Amino acid sequence: MALESKILELKNLPAIFPLLGLLLTLYYVWGVLDFIWFHYLRPKSWTRLLHGTRPYALITGATDGIGRSAAKELYAKGFNLILHGRSGEKMRRTVEEVKAVNPTGGLDVKYFITDVGRLDIDFGAIAGQFEGLNITLFVNNVGASFPTNKMIDRSDEDFITNILNINTRFPFFITRAFLPYLRRNSQSGPVEVVFIGSIAGDVTVPFVSPYAGSKALTKRVSRILHADERVLSKSNLSFVYANVGVVQTGSLRVGTSLAQPHSDDYARHLVESFGSGRRVVIPHPVHHVLYAIVTGMPEALCDYIVSAEARSLFREIEEDKKKG
Ligand SMILES: NC(=O)c1ccc[n+]([C@@H]2O[C@H](COP(=O)([O-])OP(=O)(O)OC[C@H]3O[C@@H](n4cnc5c(N)ncnc54)[C@H](OP(=O)(O)O)[C@@H]3O)[C@@H](O)[C@H]2O)c1
Ligand SMILES: *[C@@H]1O[C@H](CO)[C@@H](O)[C@H](O)[C@H]1NC(C)=O
Ligand SMILES: *[C@@H]1O[C@H](CO)[C@@H](O)[C@H](O)[C@H]1NC(C)=O
Repeated sequence: MALESKILELKNLPAIFPLLGLLLTLYYVWGVLDFIWFHYLRPKSWTRLLHGTRPYALITGATDGIGRSAAKELYAKGFNLILHGRSGEKMRRTVEEVKAVNPTGGLDVKYFITDVGRLDIDFGAIAGQFEGLNITLFVNNVGASFPTNKMIDRSDEDFITNILNINTRFPFFITRAFLPYLRRNSQSGPVEVVFIGSIAGDVTVPFVSPYAGSKALTKRVSRILHADERVLSKSNLSFVYANVGVVQTGSLRVGTSLAQPHSDDYARHLVESFGSGRRVVIPHPVHHVLYAIVTGMPEALCDYIVSAEARSLFREIEEDKKKG
């Protein structure tokens, strides 16, 4: 009897393969359709966050790169802004630049200055300053990547601590301080907190373990905060992790290409991804394709290819530094 059923199982085995093949094909077709839907067909979603009287978007690290470009894009689209930077002088220039994209909109731009690497930041005081405003979008963008070609035992402790503070400690505690106000604002419509992450949080980029680890931590934090709000209390507050590939910015002066857009081009895609209702997004379509390819590979091959890519990117950065 037992033997008979074994033989039966074996006979049935081949039939399962076409079925598995079909399921796998459907899975990939679904991925492609979803890609097209998300990047090209979906109705606008950022407009969901533009509600109530005087809605504000808060952006950290807004005086350069992706943060500054996103500020301009959001201001052009009708958001009032709260910007963060570390240099008053650079902030004043940024505010002028932002205001120039929408001079007739009657929109407000506020800002605060804090060096986010410091350990003595009064998070409650920062949040309290903006307590009464209708913040509907909160972009945790500030981050430091410091591409390096040193192992952690050859980098000094302060260097590593600074990366962890800027990329992890600050976003965590600033979000925590604003949380009660964001939750209150969400009573009149959707409110979104975005963590600007990196593909480095998911794949093996050599030498940047403090950076990549901090992004991976943020990804998990974002997911759990989302569950805290949506599953436990059903509030209208959601959390999104935006997975970013290479972008030409203030601190990453690489040449632009299809896969390495300028931050102004990038910000258009980023803003389009706001309010999408997804937990993790890859805002740029080319980054999305590259991500699908590398994460679809066997891990060892992925490590090899990403390492080779990263090494040539780091070399380009080093050469750029030498040129000054
Ligand atoms: N560029 C990329 O290829 C890439 C890829 C993946 C992920 N990301 C992520 O995208 C985000 C933005 O990166 P980005 O390339 O646009 O950076 P960026 O051009 O260097 O701009 C960073 C912003 O953060 C501010 N900032 C940096 N360190 C600070 C500190 N200690 N205290 C206060 N402010 C500080 C900068 O101020 P200053 O203007 O005064 O310098 C600037 O406003 C980061 O989270 C980064 O990890 C970027
Ligand atoms: C925030 O939005 C609510 C609802 O639209 C409005 O009543 C309130 O005046 C707004 N607050 C500010 C400071 O604009
Ligand atoms: C969510 O927002 C809607 C308006 O869009 C509001 O009617 C509802 O009460 C909000 N829910 C919570 C839990 O705040």
